[in-house]
Amino acid sequence: MTRSLSFATFLLVGFQTVQAAYFTPTPRQAPDASGPQASGSAWEGYSEIPDLDGANRYMTWPLSRNATIPLYQTADLDNSTVTRAVIGVSGALRDCWQGWTDLNNALDTAAAAKSSVKPSKISVMSPCFFNTLDVDAGAVVEDQLVFNGTTWSSGHSNVLPDSISDFSAYDVLDELIAFYMDKDTFPNLEKLVIGGHSMGAQAVQRYAALRKSTKNDDRLRFWVANPGSLLWLVKDRPAEDDDCDGVDDYKYGLSAKFPAYATADFNDLGRDGIVERYFGRNVSYAWGLKDNGAGDKRCQAVTQGSTHLERGKNYVAMLEDMSNGSIPDAHTVDYVAGVSHQPSKMMNSTEGWTKVSLIISSFRIS
Ligand SMILES: *[C@@H]1O[C@H](CO)[C@@H](O)[C@H](O)[C@H]1NC(C)=O
Ligand SMILES: *[C@@H]1O[C@H](CO)[C@@H](O)[C@H](O)[C@H]1NC(C)=O
Ligand SMILES: *[C@@H]1O[C@H](CO)[C@@H](O)[C@H](O)[C@H]1NC(C)=O
Ligand SMILES: *[C@@H]1O[C@H](CO)[C@@H](O)[C@H](O)[C@H]1NC(C)=O
Ligand SMILES: *[C@@H]1O[C@H](CO)[C@@H](O)[C@H](O)[C@H]1NC(C)=O
Ligand SMILES: *[C@@H]1O[C@H](CO)[C@@H](O)[C@H](O)[C@H]1NC(C)=O
Repeated sequence: MTRSLSFATFLLVGFQTVQAAYFTPTPRQAPDASGPQASGSAWEGYSEIPDLDGANRYMTWPLSRNATIPLYQTADLDNSTVTRAVIGVSGALRDCWQGWTDLNNALDTAAAAKSSVKPSKISVMSPCFFNTLDVDAGAVVEDQLVFNGTTWSSGHSNVLPDSISDFSAYDVLDELIAFYMDKDTFPNLEKLVIGGHSMGAQAVQRYAALRKSTKNDDRLRFWVANPGSLLWLVKDRPAEDDDCDGVDDYKYGLSAKFPAYATADFNDLGRDGIVERYFGRNVSYAWGLKDNGAGDKRCQAVTQGSTHLERGKNYVAMLEDMSNGSIPDAHTVDYVAGVSHQPSKMMNSTEGWTKVSLIISSFRIS
């Protein structure tokens, strides 16, 4: 009996009536049947999340303001020898256990390919962004942050617990990055990659644009693989649609409707300031050359292109237009042959593990 009264009340009486106000996610992707399995599902809510070999599962990783979040982190590393870290943001399935597994597999592949890759020096962390379905199904415990549908991915605030308000998923990423960047804990950390595929990539790309602190940017890299849509940086779109409202509103663009996390920052910096900061950050994009799915069919997404891959190519063309014909120096683009909308294959590809695991200090990122 450790739940707070308001939380218990919510569970017993509140949920049925409140539920209608929440957005029910409809992930299009099937869970990876070969990986570790949770109880429940992304559609029905998770009731329990699995233990993993090689990782510690923290159900209540401590954040500020007494908030907690579940996450997986590589077990048994000596903090003082860790030189690299990867924070993986899972997709619409919220399957952080699969996210950790995919990254760890990619790390094994990298280590097999390059003897200079030392898994004992690389920490992989995969936070879990639960939503209200997981409250009903049972996986959520007291003080865990809970989000509405998939709105965590665009940096919107938590909806539970009642005692904590305005805690953005991007605040969570800020705190997890700060954890690794702290020299007292990780005195030898050289680089941290924060990466995601699909909805996770949407989260990472928008976060790369909206993250407020530029401290540690020299040690940070963002990996954006097969996002369903992107935060467009100019007002024009490659496939204009006059009948579509809010084409340039967040999360699709930079005109209006920012989440609380970014409102003051945008008022301060404006579009140009946001773009300049984004161009100064190390962002690596990756698209599977077979990722021809339509994904998000909302008209705002369709104005970016009709498929994931087409949106990607259009985005790269926009970057080139904005900076005199070549993408910003700190950005890289990979097209991965033979891969569709498949997170494990994107991460396990040479392009994937090179950037994601960002592994080798002597490894040049072209
Ligand atoms: C949840 O998100 C949906 C879709 O964005 C929105 O319509 C709804 O108002 C949100 N509910 C709450 C309680 O924030
Ligand atoms: C965190 O919880 C402790 C113990 O319940 C309480 O004393 C403290 O005020 C809380 N802190 C915040 C920021 O809510
Ligand atoms: C690594 O650092 C974390 C955070 O300070 C600490 O909780 C953990 O015990 C440390 N691990 C080891 C093996 O020292
Ligand atoms: C970021 O990109 C710059 C320019 O390409 C490079 O010098 C730097 O090492 C990169 N940093 C990381 C963390 O990858
Ligand atoms: C593009 O070229 C113009 C003219 O040479 C220059 O003033 C501008 O700074 C360049 N912009 C970028 C982003 O490189
Ligand atoms: C990752 O790629 C390596 C090398 O191609 C392969 O041996 C391994 O089976 C792959 N792992 C997964 C989980 O797909």
